Amino acid sequence: MDSFLVSSNGPLKGSVKISGAKNAVLPVMAAAMLTDGVSRIGNVPHLKDMRTMADVLRVTGCRIKESENELSIDSSDINHLEAPYELVKTMRASFYVLGPLVAKFGRCRVSLPGGCAWGPRPVDLHLKGLEALGAKINITHGYVEAICDGRLKGNTFSFPISSVGATANILMAATLAEGSTVLQNSLIEPEITALAEYLTDMGAKIDGIGTRTLIVHGVEKLNPGNGDTIADRIEAGTFLAAAAITRGKVKVTNMVPAHQGALLECFKNIGCKISQGDDWVELDAEGMSLSPAHITTLPYPGFPTDMQAQLMAVLASIKGTSSVRDTIYSDRFKHVSELERLGADISLKEDTAIITGGSPLSGAPVMASDLRASAALVLAGLAASGQTKISRIYHLDRGYENFEGKLALLGANVERVS
Ligand code: UD1
Repeated sequence: MDSFLVSSNGPLKGSVKISGAKNAVLPVMAAAMLTDGVSRIGNVPHLKDMRTMADVLRVTGCRIKESENELSIDSSDINHLEAPYELVKTMRASFYVLGPLVAKFGRCRVSLPGGCAWGPRPVDLHLKGLEALGAKINITHGYVEAICDGRLKGNTFSFPISSVGATANILMAATLAEGSTVLQNSLIEPEITALAEYLTDMGAKIDGIGTRTLIVHGVEKLNPGNGDTIADRIEAGTFLAAAAITRGKVKVTNMVPAHQGALLECFKNIGCKISQGDDWVELDAEGMSLSPAHITTLPYPGFPTDMQAQLMAVLASIKGTSSVRDTIYSDRFKHVSELERLGADISLKEDTAIITGGSPLSGAPVMASDLRASAALVLAGLAASGQTKISRIYHLDRGYENFEGKLALLGANVERVS
């Protein structure tokens, strides 16, 4: 099992190029199952989650070729309508195959994903949405069995809680349903918009893309898709946070600044200087004394929950009292006790972490508990005196392509050890 050895090497400086967004590729890979033929997805990052999703699709009979940063998915011979527990338990996004499979074949069997590192993560909204489209759902032996008589039937469904995964799953299913489906209280995350655009390229008829009400006019058949993945806004945000915590100056390129409104606002509020162009953002914190902040995570365009751990590390380096409240996952705070091992002063009260920042961080052995928590620990290690050993870095490998290589280009001291 790999670990990272991280030590401070002063302010990070230079420029770093962002990869494609794993959270945008994952649903698009599932969407490729809706057609018969070969779909192409470009700007795909080399990440463990991509390989897991490819394995899930292969189990069903899809043939997948990977080259450079492209995937081709041939879904002409899907013959096994099941996603097994062994794969789904390692990555919840495997559940994305549920909607496309039942929409196209009228039945499928997909393992329930179970919880995650920071608590239970239900899939009830995915199931309720499919039931609204006429699927019969039965849960047995840890598997969801979905069947429908003929095609799914268009309907109006309002998500009682906003969910990225459920919006994506029901949107995909609705493309092949008979009649029109109205999805209210859908999410407008860039990854959802990217999925809707990819589906449109496949021939789906979707109105309201980029709004909270998606209207899907079902079609009988979709064509293979072809499109490039949007840049990873969380990877981009993490490198900006690395610049902030080391009081460096980093230009993040190949990204979409328009996807980062709340995060850039937060960096400006704490005193970082932000410049931006069409596809880049530069964060300058050189020699600056930054101010504390109060952050609340919200669905897009609010502050992303996937950036709260990294920002918490930054706030721990800033003198004064800050807070981070997570309204999406009220218990997503596994990183707190590890940041405390590095000297951060953080107390937890329900869904809010209170950070008394400014006490010096000092390197220590710590353990990564999930993907974004791992990134937060790396950032804290870059600002700590001495060496920080972060074990269980496989969490980080799920979502950051060549993280240590990209950080090294900026002057960071990060070494991978087995
Ligand atoms: C996706 C992202 C993840 C991000 C999260 C929130 C992917 C692969 N993952 O996860 O990185 O942190 O969005 O932005 O894109 N909920 C229910 N019932 C459901 C589904 C969700 O109660 O059926 C709740 C969840 O417990 C959570 C909230 O809804 O409190 C939002 O979760 P959701 O948006 O579904 O997250 P994911 O799609 O799993």
